[in-house]
Amino acid sequence: MTVDALAGAAYIVAALLFILSLAGLSKHESARSGVLFGISGMTIALLATIALTIANAWTTGAFIGLALLLVAVLVGAGIGLWRARVVEMTGMPELIALLHSFVGLAAVLVGWNGYLAHPEIAAELAGIHNAEVFIGVFIGGVTFTGSIVAYLKLSAKMSSKPLMLPGKNVLNVLALVGFLALTVWFVVDQQLWLLVAVTLLSFALGWHLVASIGGGDMPVVVSMLNSYSGWAAAAAGFLLNNDLLIVTGALVGSSGAYLSYVMCKAMNRSFLSVIAGGFGIAAPSASDAEYGEHREITAESAAEMLTAAKSVVITPGYGMAVAHAQYPVADLVTRLRERGVDVRFGIHPVAGRLPGHMNVLLAEAKVPYDIVLSMEEVNDDLAATSVVLVIGANDTVNPAAAEDPSSPIAGMPVLRVWEAENVIVFKRSMAAGYAGVQNPLFFRDNATMLFGDAKQKVEDIIAAL
Ligand code: TAP
Repeated sequence: MTVDALAGAAYIVAALLFILSLAGLSKHESARSGVLFGISGMTIALLATIALTIANAWTTGAFIGLALLLVAVLVGAGIGLWRARVVEMTGMPELIALLHSFVGLAAVLVGWNGYLAHPEIAAELAGIHNAEVFIGVFIGGVTFTGSIVAYLKLSAKMSSKPLMLPGKNVLNVLALVGFLALTVWFVVDQQLWLLVAVTLLSFALGWHLVASIGGGDMPVVVSMLNSYSGWAAAAAGFLLNNDLLIVTGALVGSSGAYLSYVMCKAMNRSFLSVIAGGFGIAAPSASDAEYGEHREITAESAAEMLTAAKSVVITPGYGMAVAHAQYPVADLVTRLRERGVDVRFGIHPVAGRLPGHMNVLLAEAKVPYDIVLSMEEVNDDLAATSVVLVIGANDTVNPAAAEDPSSPIAGMPVLRVWEAENVIVFKRSMAAGYAGVQNPLFFRDNATMLFGDAKQKVEDIIAAL
């Protein structure tokens, strides 16, 4: 059997392992085996690619390709291992966004290579090849700059407010029309400047699409860029004539698109408007309404309130992750339950900075699964709850989403914590949450603020108990 045939078979096995991996990752219990399937698939794919390159070098006598491949694998694996080891859980979305940008850039470079290397192509297929070059460069370019903007926004290096250029929707449509026109032109006449133009156009469009999306919609943007990076990889697969890259790219592309759709439904957002760069989303009204005075509470009074409570619901958010407060929170839960208080968690689908963020942290701190409920499961019980502890959450408990149609997060489902008898909000200041909007909850009569680092404050409550 030739190395080509063996590699082909290995690619099929790897593709099947990737499918099993995605299936495994869809459930808590099977997530670990899903990751193992993914690692095995990637290892097989890499080994097959290296074997192919060695065989190629052997027959042609050109070892430069092999040397480049080994250097790339070593450098990439080194950086990947280092980043994965040092990244904080709260920094994962930024890292993922940055990795997507690499996939986009790779697709752009593969496209350029497809033009510059002048591969031998039958005349009747040349048109298809040229269109592939353009499509690959375009999707790759949009993914590249879009992911960089997502990285900058998620890491707070750029404002999370949506960019509102006049006629922004027209600009997006013009960019698409421009892309189609340039592609047709390039298929007829392969001028270098056309390739430069489409590259610049795709960079500008990617930047604009993601810059136009507000902070509240960023979770969807990250999964959407995940999808784009998949299509970019598939486009590169066509150019490189690599079936595995096509299959894997299509898997990532379609699963990312589906995840974006599911998240849009969960957040009551229009899928089309988000993928079209905030199409139809109006600029938030600038006025920060005056809500009145907020009240503060001490850890000791909070401890008293909790011991007197019949039922407690904890709604954690990004701040719990930043403060690493999940361990004292788990401890507090154990103590309250020992005293006969009914304690449960209410988890918003986009609490934190990545899907499932809170569930992972609570599992890490050994909080029993059966008291960790989803937003839908807990929302109707909140009105009959004695105390809600909002620990480092903000947008996900903002009543403006339900009550103020002019709010940038209007319509997004939220945990209706304000219906409870008492609400204690743990945060360090009156600063806004990720979406950058004020939270009227903090000024309600039944709400009190417990200012300070969430971990420290929970420990203070435990000490007072
Ligand atoms: P946020 O709205 O971001 O609010 C977190 C709050 O935690 C802030 O108000 C902050 O207030 C507080 N905080 C930060 N550090 C703290 C600390 N050490 N101790 C105590 N409090 C601290 O969080 P959320 O309610 O979890 O909502 C998530 C937001 O992120 C949504 O807007 C969502 O759309 C967006 N987002 C989600 C995802 C996914 S997939 N989950 C991805 C990207 C973006 P202070 O600064 O005053 O302390």
